[in-house]
Amino acid sequence: MDRLRRAWEVLDDRLGVSKTLGPVLRHPVPPSARWYYVLGSATLFAFIVQVVTGIALALMYIPSTNNAYQTLQFITHDAPFGRVLRGIHYWGASAMILLIGLHMARVFLMGAYKYPREANWLTGVVLFMVTIVIAFTGQLLRWDQTAVWTVAVTAEQAGRIPFIGGAVAHFLLAGDTWSGETLSRFYAFHVFFIPAIIFIFVGVHLWLVLHHGISEPPVAGRPVDPKTYRTWYHAMLEREGRPFWPDAAWRDVAFGVGIITAIVLLAVIVGPPELDRPPDPTLLNADPRPDWYLLWYFAALALIPPKLENAFMIFGPLLAAVVLLVIPFVSNRGERSSSRRPWAVASVGVVCLMIATLWIAGVRAPWSPDFSARLLPEQVVGTASGPVAVGARLFLDKGCEYCHTVAGHGGKRGPDLTYVGDRLSVDQMTWRILNGGTNMPAFANNITPQQLNDLIAFLKSRTRR
Ligand code: HEC
Repeated sequence: MDRLRRAWEVLDDRLGVSKTLGPVLRHPVPPSARWYYVLGSATLFAFIVQVVTGIALALMYIPSTNNAYQTLQFITHDAPFGRVLRGIHYWGASAMILLIGLHMARVFLMGAYKYPREANWLTGVVLFMVTIVIAFTGQLLRWDQTAVWTVAVTAEQAGRIPFIGGAVAHFLLAGDTWSGETLSRFYAFHVFFIPAIIFIFVGVHLWLVLHHGISEPPVAGRPVDPKTYRTWYHAMLEREGRPFWPDAAWRDVAFGVGIITAIVLLAVIVGPPELDRPPDPTLLNADPRPDWYLLWYFAALALIPPKLENAFMIFGPLLAAVVLLVIPFVSNRGERSSSRRPWAVASVGVVCLMIATLWIAGVRAPWSPDFSARLLPEQVVGTASGPVAVGARLFLDKGCEYCHTVAGHGGKRGPDLTYVGDRLSVDQMTWRILNGGTNMPAFANNITPQQLNDLIAFLKSRTRR
């Protein structure tokens, strides 16, 4: 024991550990720091889990179109602890997104972004945005059908941005369609570029937290005034401050350990998400869907009327980013307590409600056929008689419309067939209808040759013209 202590003293003397870290650990913090202050450090804990498991996964993962899917299958099913490892990385990502969202809401509701902590907020917003990007790029690395189609859909939508859309889509895909280059690009972003940004911004964010000190819990009727705040804050710390370690930090440690335990338990019990089929460019995916934390956004894209889709796609995220970034510029003083800021509380409530609603819609919609589908209106079909019109009726009667959308009518279980006439030949259609598919029933025993002809006449009429 004595020897250990002496060894530590020698090391400490040569490296200066306690001289540097001591003041950081013991710096005074407001006395009434409570449990809701642990969300930021818990996000950091989750990020560290991601770095460690990410490195472990990268030891086995091969980022090439021929191998990516197979190496993940290997990791999941054959490598020792591989399933748990993938599980931790997945649930760690989920935890990180959830915690960062809660942390932001907490900081916003308590007005902790106000003077002098505006830069804390701005660096935090950047961290929030790059966290979403890193989560999204991670999903593609599975390189299964869902991942590839999620990216294809994203690139297609990015392509609609005016003027620069084509360039953005080209940049995302590293080419005109998805390929090995796409995978390399997302891999480089996921493991080098974005983590580097996160490290830098976490460093700045933490330094700012130390520099300005942790915000004291707000008190209604005590507004922030930039002229007096600093003096007041330091006097308050002198009077009643407590050392960060251990008075406040034990909560961070306890909560962080709890979070990591929860992540590991979920990884062991629930495991990582199943891989979809390997990507197949000839199959349109029935439902390209991202992981749960982005599902609500894709649901919004699926639900809004097609006419508004472009505008929403571009201006939705842009508006959200701008709003988040201007917050500290428009309100960096005044009341901090949420009991005096009804609009702040209301806006957080509205955002939560919106995300929850969309999320539920996203969970439900693509999975269940839409049994409320009605006969396609005549202006969609284009004629009221003849084989095409008969086919349109069969399209409903045989249940096709429960799963397939035509011009905005019908379910979303299967691919949109609005322009199927451009895409598939008569032979391909016949084959598909008679044999079905992974998520489509075979109709061979359920349809007469005459009905098949009419149905195909209708499908063939679905062209852009
Ligand atoms: C239970 C839902 C469901 C029903 C009912 C259904 N489909 Fe499908 N359909 C799908 C899915 C899902 C796919 C995607 C292929 C797969 O999953 O293998 C698909 C694929 C197709 C395709 C190929 C689309 C493409 O772009 O490659 C055609 C054509 C098609 N269906 C036509 C029909 C017709 C005609 C009917 C009615 C006779 C019908 N489907 C009924 C779910 C359904």
